[in-house]
Amino acid sequence: MKGFMATLAATVGLLFSGIVSSKITEPVTVKGNAFFVGDKRFYIRGVDYQPGGSSNLADPLSNITVCKRDITYMKDLGLNTIRVYLDTSDNSANHDECMDLLSEAGIYLILDVNTPRFSISRDFPVASYNEVYLQHVFATVDVFSKYTNTLGFFAANEVINAANSTRAAAVVKALIRDMRKYISKHSDRPIPVGYSAADVAENRREMAHYLNCGPDSARSDFFAFNDYSWCGPSSFVQSGWDKKVENYTGYSIPLFLSEFGCIDVKPRTFNEVKALYSTQMTGVFSGGLVYEFTQEPNNYGLVQIDSDNVTTLADYDSLKRQYSSTNNPPGDGGYQKNLPPSDCPERTSLWEASNTLPDLPSAASIYMDNGAGKPKGTNGASSQFVPQNRKDYNLPGESGAPAPSSSASADESDQGAAAEGMAGLAVGGLWMGVVAGLGAIAGTMLLF
Ligand SMILES: *[C@@H]1O[C@H](CO)[C@@H](O)[C@H](O)[C@H]1NC(C)=O
Ligand SMILES: *[C@@H]1O[C@H](CO)[C@@H](O)[C@H](O)[C@H]1NC(C)=O
Ligand SMILES: *[C@@H]1O[C@H](CO)[C@@H](O)[C@H](O)[C@H]1NC(C)=O
Ligand SMILES: *[C@@H]1O[C@H](CO)[C@@H](O)[C@H](O)[C@H]1NC(C)=O
Repeated sequence: MKGFMATLAATVGLLFSGIVSSKITEPVTVKGNAFFVGDKRFYIRGVDYQPGGSSNLADPLSNITVCKRDITYMKDLGLNTIRVYLDTSDNSANHDECMDLLSEAGIYLILDVNTPRFSISRDFPVASYNEVYLQHVFATVDVFSKYTNTLGFFAANEVINAANSTRAAAVVKALIRDMRKYISKHSDRPIPVGYSAADVAENRREMAHYLNCGPDSARSDFFAFNDYSWCGPSSFVQSGWDKKVENYTGYSIPLFLSEFGCIDVKPRTFNEVKALYSTQMTGVFSGGLVYEFTQEPNNYGLVQIDSDNVTTLADYDSLKRQYSSTNNPPGDGGYQKNLPPSDCPERTSLWEASNTLPDLPSAASIYMDNGAGKPKGTNGASSQFVPQNRKDYNLPGESGAPAPSSSASADESDQGAAAEGMAGLAVGGLWMGVVAGLGAIAGTMLLF
């Protein structure tokens, strides 16, 4: 009985805080090439958040001890957004309390929908785009779309990481199309869906335009890329950010940095913050996310966590100083409302993605039509073992694509900073070309 009363009290408390917080963060919307909250331009001032890193996977948004501990510091830093990666979110867990606390702190979430067990394979993209995978993605969308402070979803992260994985972009784009359609059918508000690209110069621009071309139903709501080119004191010109602004001028959807914060020179001074929120950039960019909140073996952290004790590091102090002394530009920061979508990049030997997208797999249409049903969390069957049932591994316009075999293995070669921390990990198995991933992935693969 005592237990029952406690549960009841907790439930009432949660309901109440849910009601209160829904008023606190008004949803972020997309207008032209920018984000808005109501009539006010919204710039992402965020961090990437994956406490525990690669060796200790846990969902930080379902652990109230963890999120309470960390939100205090996020607020102190002056953040308005966090990004939680693929690996760490369990779609069957309860996220109400942490999402409410974030909301009360004025912090939005951008969530990666993929996990090591549910993700797009860059080597076998068609096989990985199956009904088990889509159930996971749609169920994750259901869970997080009810929070007003869900800013958006990353449909995928760094799938295209080299010149030889560009054909997989067709599946990424199909997934964005499917998620947007699912949201329009099953969510009571539009929630932006986009992609986070690796810091790879040779095809980043093609990917940006590819995801923003063709019919409206298949275009991304935003685009982001990871960027480690501003190192040390540097400058707008020396870092090459001036060229990026030039290159993306005229790009019609919101653009931001999904990871930044080079560590070649430590401690970091984060001088780039001044540039990022200045009118030199805000006509084209909408802010970014610093990699990363907690100190992990790859050394990008702002805070050190020992058990539950938090120690702020020198980088934390610099970032806090930069944020608090950097205002957003006045007015709308020079955003543009009616830019035309991009032209589709031509298919060449360097850009192999077809402009004809694969259809939603027929076995997944039941989820599209009726809803995804219950989230299966981290324990459901992995989507990575479905392809045995499939007959065709070709994308539209292709023939002779290789089928995955259980002995296939490849190496997880990421360009992102996060990958540095996992170099040397021995991984193997069916999907190793897989995912996207940041450090955590390889760690989890070892569990297979
Ligand atoms: C929450 O995180 C704390 C600190 O890392 C850990 O000790 C605890 O076991 C976690 N709780 C759950 C329910 O996972
Ligand atoms: C791309 O190249 C890498 C490194 O050479 C290799 O491991 C990977 O399997 C290749 N992927 C495809 C899709 O050919
Ligand atoms: C700008 O675009 C060109 C053409 O795609 C590309 O070669 C160059 O690397 C880009 N520069 C930057 C800084 O992104
Ligand atoms: C955490 O801080 C408390 C109080 O300062 C201290 O007693 C404890 O030893 C610390 N734990 C760790 C693991 O540092």
